[in-house]
Amino acid sequence: MAVISFLEEHRTWVLTGESCTYALRLDEDDVPTHVHWGPPLPEADVVELMESTLPWWDGFNDPNEGLGELAADGGTRYWTPALQVRFADGTRALEWRYADHDVTDGHLRLFFEDRHYPLRITLHYRLRGAVLERWTELGADTDVEVVRADSATWALPVFEDYRLSHVTGRWAAETQLHRSPVPHGETVFGSRRGITSHHANPWVMVDDGTATEGHGEVYGIALAWSGSWRLTTTRSSTGRLTVSGGFGQDGVVHRVGPGRPLTTPVAAGLYTDGGFGAASRAWHAYVLAHVLPHPDELRPVLYNSWEATGFDVTEAGQRALAERAAALGVELFVMDDGWFGARTGDHAGLGDWQVNRERFPDGLKPLVDAVHGLGMRFGIWVEPEMVNPDSDLHRAHPDWVLHHPHRRRSELRRQLVLNFARPDVAAWAHEWLDRLVGSQGIDFLKWDMNRPFSEAGWPGERDQDRLWVEHTRAVYALLDRLRADHPGLRIEACAGGGGRIDLGVLTRTDQVWTSDNTDALDRLRIQHGYGQVYPARAMSAWVTDNPNFVTARSVPLEFRFHVAMAGVLGLGGDIVHWPEDDLTLARELVALYKDIRPVVQHGALYRLRPPVDDGVTALQYVHGDRVVVFAYRQAAHFNAPERPLRLAGLDPAHRYLDPDSGVTHSGAVLLARGLPPGLPTGDFASRVVRLERVKI
Ligand code: GLA
Repeated sequence: MAVISFLEEHRTWVLTGESCTYALRLDEDDVPTHVHWGPPLPEADVVELMESTLPWWDGFNDPNEGLGELAADGGTRYWTPALQVRFADGTRALEWRYADHDVTDGHLRLFFEDRHYPLRITLHYRLRGAVLERWTELGADTDVEVVRADSATWALPVFEDYRLSHVTGRWAAETQLHRSPVPHGETVFGSRRGITSHHANPWVMVDDGTATEGHGEVYGIALAWSGSWRLTTTRSSTGRLTVSGGFGQDGVVHRVGPGRPLTTPVAAGLYTDGGFGAASRAWHAYVLAHVLPHPDELRPVLYNSWEATGFDVTEAGQRALAERAAALGVELFVMDDGWFGARTGDHAGLGDWQVNRERFPDGLKPLVDAVHGLGMRFGIWVEPEMVNPDSDLHRAHPDWVLHHPHRRRSELRRQLVLNFARPDVAAWAHEWLDRLVGSQGIDFLKWDMNRPFSEAGWPGERDQDRLWVEHTRAVYALLDRLRADHPGLRIEACAGGGGRIDLGVLTRTDQVWTSDNTDALDRLRIQHGYGQVYPARAMSAWVTDNPNFVTARSVPLEFRFHVAMAGVLGLGGDIVHWPEDDLTLARELVALYKDIRPVVQHGALYRLRPPVDDGVTALQYVHGDRVVVFAYRQAAHFNAPERPLRLAGLDPAHRYLDPDSGVTHSGAVLLARGLPPGLPTGDFASRVVRLERVKI
C-alpha cells in the first residue's frame, strides 16, 4: 500500500510503500534534499532526520553534500553531478526554484524550474510494491545543452562501512556476482557499447558489510535502460554514500528545447531488511507484478536449432528437429539464424530478410504449418538492428549504418549497426517485421543484437548525439508496436546471449537468452548472478550437447536438465542424433519440468547454497503449497557424508509430502535441521525434490 504525504510546514514529502519509507524536503534555497530511505518511519519521526552532513562553518564544503535528490552541478555542490546543464549564454550552474507538486495514484511529481533560465525539471517518484521508481523529465523553451541527466541520486544512511554487490562478465560469461568494499571516491559501472552489455549489468546493491543471504539491510538500485548507461557510487569521508545513475555516453550532449523534452529511464530503488535473499525475491516480485508484459503466463518449453545446425538451416532439417522436439514434449519450436537472404554464414545476408528460396523453396509457411500441426508454436530468429556489408540492404543504403565521415567502419562479427534513430530505418524494420509476423503465422521472435556500437555518427544530422538514446527508444517503440498489433506474439531478447538484460527490455519482452554459454557448471554461476535481480520466469536456459560448444566440457544429461529446469527450460541440442536412452530421459524430464514449472516460474527463490566447486549447490522455489528443491554436486571428495539442506520459506506448523518417495517431513524439521538431498554418488550428481504442504 502506498501513502504519500506532504508536510507543508517542513516542505517535506514522505512516501511509505510496502516495506520502506522514503522522504525528501526542499532546503531554504528550494534544492530538493534527501531526508530518509530505509525502514518504515512515522511521518512525525521523519522530521527529526533533517540534518546537514557537515557543519556550516566548514568553509570547504556544501553542508548538504551528498544529499541532493538529483545532485545538480552548480554553486557549492561538489558531489558527483547527476544533472549538468549549459544554457545558451554559456552559464552552467543550475539554480532550483520549486513550482508545485502533484500526487496521483502513488505517483509524486515535483515541479521545478531554473531561477532564471527557461529550464523545467520534474522529479518523479512512483511506489510500486516494495520498489520506488524514480526518473527525471526536462523541458525548455529555448535550447539547453544537457551534459548529464541521471534518473536519480540515491543517498544511503550513514553506515560504519559499505559493501557493493554487482555483476561483471563478458560474452559467454555473463552476470558473475562480486561483493567488495565500496572504495572512497567515485566508482563507476556502466556500458559505452550502446547496449546494456555483457560486461556489467545496470544494478548495484549496497549493504554495510554484514548482510547475509537471510539477514540484514540491503539497498538496491536498478536502471530500466538498454543503451549505454552509468551508475556511480560516491563515498565521502563524512561516511556518506550515494548511488547516481542514468543513461548516457561520455561526451554526448542532449539538446533539450521546444518540442524536444528529455525523459530519463526509470531507476528503481529497493530496500529490505531481510538480506540478499529477500532483496532478490522483492526484485522478482516487482518484475512479475510491474515489469513483464504477461507475467501470469507460463513460458513454454522451447526448442532452438542454433547449436544443432549453426547456419546450415534447411526445411527438411528443421522439420526433422521439430518432429523430435514435439515428441519430447516441446511446446515452442524456434528456428535460429540462417533462414534468410544469403545468410549461410556470418559473412553475408544480414539485412536481407527474405526467406532463402534455396533452403525453403516454398517459403516459410510449410514449415510453420508443420510446426503448428505438431502442436507447437513457431518462433524465428531475427537481428533487425544489424547489417552485413555484404548484403543487398547495405549496397542500397550504405548511409543507414552508424558511421562518421573519414573514419573506418569497424566490423565486429562482420557486421555493422543500423541507425534506428533514423525514421526511415525504423520504418523499414517495422515494415518487414510486421509483414513477417503477420503473414507467416509467427508466434515468437528471438530478437538478437550481436555487436556493440562503434563510430556512432549520423552524418548530415544536426544533433547526431541523440542517436545514443533514440536508437534504444526506437527499438522499444518497435517492440511495443509489434506487440500491440500482434497480441499473440511473444519475444525473447538476446544480444549474443545476455548482452541486453535489464528492466527496460523486460518491460517489453517475455524472456531473455541468458548466455550463449550453455555449459551446466558455468550456467550455475551465470544463473546465480542473473537471479540476484531478474526472475526465473524470464530466464531462458537450454539443454545442449556434449561436449559443450563453448567450454568443451561433458556433463551428464540429467545434470544439464536439472540446471536448465531452474529457469525457462529449453532444448538446444542436436536431438535428431540423440540416442534412445537420452530421448527417454529427456521426455521424462520435460514432463517433470511441466509439473514443477508453476513453482519455478512463479515461485519465490531461496538460494540455499551458492555455486561452489567443492560441495553442494542448492536452490529452492516456493509457490503456495508447493516446493521444489534443486541440488547439484559437481565433484565428490573423500567420501564426504551428505549434509542436510536447511530449507527456507516453509510453514513450520505443517507437514510436507514428497510425492516421489511418499515420505512426509515436518516443516519445522526441514527449516531447523534440513532435508537430506539424497544425491546419487559420484561426480556431477544432481536431484530435483518436490514437496507439497499437506492440508490439515
Ligand atoms: C547469437 C545468439 C545465438 C545465436 C546466434 C546466431 O550469438 O546469442 O543464440 O542466435 O547469435 O547467429
